This record gives sequence, C-alpha cells and structure tokens, in this order.
Amino acid sequence: MSDDLSTRQGLPEPYRYLLADLPRDRWHGHEVAAMARFWLQMHSGFRREAAAMDALTGQWRSGALALPDLHRQLIPTLQSFLQHLDGHHNIETHHYFPTMRQVEPRIGAGIDLLDRDHDVIHGHLETLFQTGLAFHQGVSGPAPTASDAAARLADALDKAGPSLSRHLEDEEDIVIPLITRHADHFKG
Ligand SMILES: [Fe+2]
Ligand SMILES: [Fe+2]
Repeated sequence: MSDDLSTRQGLPEPYRYLLADLPRDRWHGHEVAAMARFWLQMHSGFRREAAAMDALTGQWRSGALALPDLHRQLIPTLQSFLQHLDGHHNIETHHYFPTMRQVEPRIGAGIDLLDRDHDVIHGHLETLFQTGLAFHQGVSGPAPTASDAAARLADALDKAGPSLSRHLEDEEDIVIPLITRHADHFKG
C-alpha cells in the first residue's frame, strides 16, 4: 500500500492541502499557533534522543565505546525515549486526534493514517523495550552474550529509526497547519 509507513516517501497528496496553506518555510515565526510550536518541540526531543542513541550504538560498533559505557549511557536514554514517546502517542490518539477529526472532518483519512502509524511504531517500541531489557539483564553476564544483546538492541534501533522519522514529519505536515487553522480549539 502506497501510504504504508515503511515504504511511503512522504505524506500522500490528499492530506497535504493544510500544508499548502501554511508551508514549512513559515513555521518558524508567530504565524504558527503556540500549541503547534510546542508540538514541534516535543518532536525535536524525540529526534534528539533517537540521534543520541544512534550515535552511541555507532561508537560501540566502531570500537570507540566499551560495552559497559554503552550500557550506562544508552539505557537511561532508551527508557526516557520509550516512556515519552508512548505517552505522546497515547495523548495524540485518544485526545488530540479525535478533536482534529471533529474540527477538520476532511482530514479524517489522514488521521486514520497517523493512527495506523502509531500501531506500527508501537510494535517497534515493544521490540526496543524487550531488546533493551535483555541487554540490561545480560550486561553483567558472559561478554559474548552481553555483546549479542547489545547488537540486537542496536539493530532494533536501526529498524525503528526510519519509521519514526517518517511518522514525525508526516504528522507535522498535518497537525501544525491544522492546529494553527483551528487555534481556538487547541489552547493547550
Ligand atoms: Fe504521532
Ligand atoms: Fe507526534
């Protein structure tokens, strides 16, 4: 399916009409509603955490970071990332998305797409949680086992990354102009 999170190249055309009214090059100033700016900040937080985790696994893979250091630095970041992203998706799916459907009915199928993304990403978060736990529990065990567990977590991060980036960007293309258009309904 062309709008599948793992294969699509951007937000499909039928859901881009809001973005046409408020293109990305106008997202930096006060033309954008306060709540929308807050949303962008939360998304940058997730991008920052994902990049930090990628940097750590990259250093470990290249031999620049020892396994205990990888563990000490990666696990707290992973925990915070999983907790915040899960909470963020919950509030989107159960609170903001229903309001968006109501105030902008034409975008309904676009919100369906974002909800399906959340399901896919939830699967990645589960895998990250399980592989993270296995690494945490295995780190004090025999070195090859601990190293295998770290490699599995690093691979899971590699798999989750592109889907998460795609989702964050496409969601922004809907919600930033939508919140700005209907700012009265999104007062924080
Ligand atoms: Fe989302
Ligand atoms: Fe989001």
